[in-house]
Formats: sequence, C-alpha cells, structure tokens
Amino acid sequence: MIMKKIGVLTSGGDAPGMNACIRAVVRTAIYHDLEVVGIRRGYAGLIEGDMVEMDVSSVSNIIQRGGTILKTARSEKFKTPEGRARAAANLREWDVDGLVAIGGDGTYRGADYLTREWGIAVVGAPGTIDNDICGTDFTIGYDTAINVALDAVDRIRDTAASHERIFFVEVMGRDAGCIALNVGVAGGAEAILIPETPTDMDGMCGVLTRGRERGKTSSIVVVAEGDEAGGAYTIAEKVKEKTGLDYRVTILGHIQRGGSPTVRDRVLASKLGAAAVEALKDGISNVMAGEVNGEVKFTQLESIWTGKKHVDMNLCRLAEMLAI
Ligand code: F6P
Repeated sequence: MIMKKIGVLTSGGDAPGMNACIRAVVRTAIYHDLEVVGIRRGYAGLIEGDMVEMDVSSVSNIIQRGGTILKTARSEKFKTPEGRARAAANLREWDVDGLVAIGGDGTYRGADYLTREWGIAVVGAPGTIDNDICGTDFTIGYDTAINVALDAVDRIRDTAASHERIFFVEVMGRDAGCIALNVGVAGGAEAILIPETPTDMDGMCGVLTRGRERGKTSSIVVVAEGDEAGGAYTIAEKVKEKTGLDYRVTILGHIQRGGSPTVRDRVLASKLGAAAVEALKDGISNVMAGEVNGEVKFTQLESIWTGKKHVDMNLCRLAEMLAI
C-alpha cells in the first residue's frame, strides 16, 4: 500500500523527549510528502476520534519541552476487541494508512493487536523513563530521568552528610531496576535494591553498620519502587529494627518524569521518530524502531511486549564491590 497519511500518538507514562519524537515524526513525514494526523490522549483519544491535522509549525518550539503536546493516557478500553475496532474505524475515517506509536510496552501490545486484527500498519518508538524495553539499548526519557534522580541523590547526600544520617531514596521504574541501579552507582550509594535480584537485608544492614563504625558520615540506599522487600518506608523500618539506625526517606516520584530532555534523549527521539516514519513509508510495519550499539534496529512488536530486558549483572557486581 502506498502511504499517504500517517497518525502519531503518545501512550502510557509520559517521558522527556516524547515531544522531540513527535516533532521528528511530523517533520520527517512532511519531508517525504506525507500528511500527518496527531492523535490526542493515546489510544483513548484514538477510540474517541480525538484527532487533529498537523503541519510543520504544529511542532515548532517543542524539542526542548518535557511531557507530550499530544497528551497521553492508559486506556482500558483499548484492551478490548470493541475498543480496537472503534480505533481502527477512526483511522479509516481519517484516511490514516499507518501509525507511529510512541510509548512503553503496553503501547506495543495494543499496537500488535491493532495490526493483527485490523491490518493497520504500526511502527513504535520506545518512550518511557523505565528503560525496560527490549530491542533498544535506551528508551526515550530514561537519560533525562536518571539525571534528574541523580541530581536529587547528590543533594540528599549533602544534607545526609551534615546530619550524619541514612537516607532511603525511592526511584521509579515500575518492575524494573534500571533507574535505581544506574543512579545508585553514579551516586555512590551504599546499597541498591532492585526487583531483578534478591534483597539481602542482613547483608545491607552489615554494610550500613560497618560504614558507621568506620566513621562514614552519610549513607544512601537507592530503592527501586518495584523491589520485593517493599517500598522505601517499609525497608527503612526493617533496617532500623535490626540496626537501631535512624533514617529519613525520600520518594522521588513524578519529578523523574518531568523537565527538559537531555541531549541524548533529544537525539535518540529524533532518530527513532524519523526511522519510524521512513519504515512505514518503505512498507515495514508491526515493529519498533530501537537503537542497538548506536544503530537503528527494528524488532517485531510481539517479541518486545512478550520479552524481558535483562539487568546488567556486571553493574550489580560493581555496585556491591564499590559500596564496601
Ligand atoms: O512507566 C513509567 C512510570 O513512571 C513508572 O516508573 C511508574 O511505576 C509509573 O509510570 C507510574 O505511573 P502513573 O503516573 O500512572 O502513576
């Protein structure tokens, strides 16, 4: 089929760099003489027909902005065949031949179903702070999020050292520990707790107590929100019970999702947005555009949403070694 008009949407949790990706999609499409429709509020907006024609200036002055100008949502309706039938009907009504879906793994499951059930050509671009998507070394938004979280950890270190305190800092990541592991290593954390590895409470208490005994003035434990031992407050209480050490807790929360994207996120978003459009134009579909070892690579949607990205075990080992 000759591609004449494409749609673009953002879905799931917003991530810094989504706007840069939307910009790349719109401008690449126009460069190749394609028309573009923006779909607001992800799959929810697609079901409701909340769509708007976009031109070159629709994406002016957005590359530096966090969030997503198209808005985003997590749609329960789109998980149903009826919801997807409505979405496909709206795409047909707007003469949209192909769709670029920017988002996390839930986005790809939906996109995969849309292709299988309704033959809609879809190419994804990975947008999530969690960096938990196979088929790409990094997701759009992750670099900004880890830098925001690291800045917070550095600030917490100042006050922790002044008061000679232990801090438990909880970071996002849903059920993945990539943010926690990297921010922990970069922030010199005394312990890092992630869902992918078992939590050794006794080992961690030993590290914290020994640190105190040899005169450490501060300790930081970075906790991934999905860790099996519970949230940062629960873990901190357990440590206090075992060691008697007083603590403070900081939950970084949604500040990790906001702010102006870093250079890396803007460049990655621009590359993958453009690659997604060019793939559609070349008749490639039902894949996600990712970046692996610096090269754009396309991976089937099914293996993305059914796969699991592995945590870097060498980095886990390094974190332990350096935290003695
Ligand atoms: O997937 C991105 C993410 O920020 C996760 O890290 C987090 O668990 C989740 O979204 C929070 O979602 P919401 O903003 O819907 O509470």
